[in-house]
Amino acid sequence: MTATDVASSPVEVPKNLTAETVTAVEHYTDALFRFRMTRPPGFRFRSGEFVMIGLPGTPRRAYSIASPSWDEELEFFSIKVPGGPLTEHLQKIVPGDTVFLGKKPTGTLVSDALLPGKRLFLFATGTGAAPFASVVRDPETYDKFERVIFTETCRTVPELRYAQDVLADTEANALMHEFVDGRLTLFDSATREPYPRTGRITDLIRTGTLFETLDIAPLDPATDRAMICGSMAMLRETQALLEERGFTEGANNKPGSYVVERAFVD
Ligand code: A2P
Repeated sequence: MTATDVASSPVEVPKNLTAETVTAVEHYTDALFRFRMTRPPGFRFRSGEFVMIGLPGTPRRAYSIASPSWDEELEFFSIKVPGGPLTEHLQKIVPGDTVFLGKKPTGTLVSDALLPGKRLFLFATGTGAAPFASVVRDPETYDKFERVIFTETCRTVPELRYAQDVLADTEANALMHEFVDGRLTLFDSATREPYPRTGRITDLIRTGTLFETLDIAPLDPATDRAMICGSMAMLRETQALLEERGFTEGANNKPGSYVVERAFVD
């Protein structure tokens, strides 16, 4: 088969997936990038949910949807794993390429799994910021909570840019600006480079630095709610810190004071 034959063969779309077209790609570092794609008509999701993503000929992986539900396209924030069966190929996509998208978004990082509360803490490391990029751009988040504190920790400073861009976009968006009304705060920290805020979020909670820096009250399970998304080690540690402070894990069928989900990687 020649290259022309490959390019002109129609892509066979596996069952339970749709074929979408890449509309934009932005690389932040050699480890992180974001991409946008068309959104099929009728594709609905709740902010914070994930969906399966794949390319023709690759395995599929769960990806948190980073765009808000009102966006006419879908956005994703991805790691690039050297030799990763999906991300090795996914990191090379360009506008016009085909990406397979699952039809059934699902997940636990949804406000329906949280009891009503006053402050919402979103604790992310690395690509764990993806579901929160959707949550902070959802007007419903501001109907449910008085204050939203989004923390993102990465090894290096350039890796923090995605969360910073999301904040800037949210504030620049006329509709969102009105909903947010100064109630959204980003606390970003780097662990392996100098930056105004440094250290792991777990240490910053433990020492109280997070609350002192933002000049806010410490965590209180009576009125605070939290979502956690990052590596397995970060999840376990943050979860333990919350449980020690009296928080209980929630689920879709039994809301609680915090919810947790692993940032998926290959
Ligand atoms: P550190 O640089 O101290 O390892 P990774 O890329 O390994 O997932 O790490 C992303 C960010 O999460 C890094 O800033 C890393 O800090 C931090 N991190 C790693 N493990 C934990 C943990 N158990 N608790 C909190 N933060 C963590």
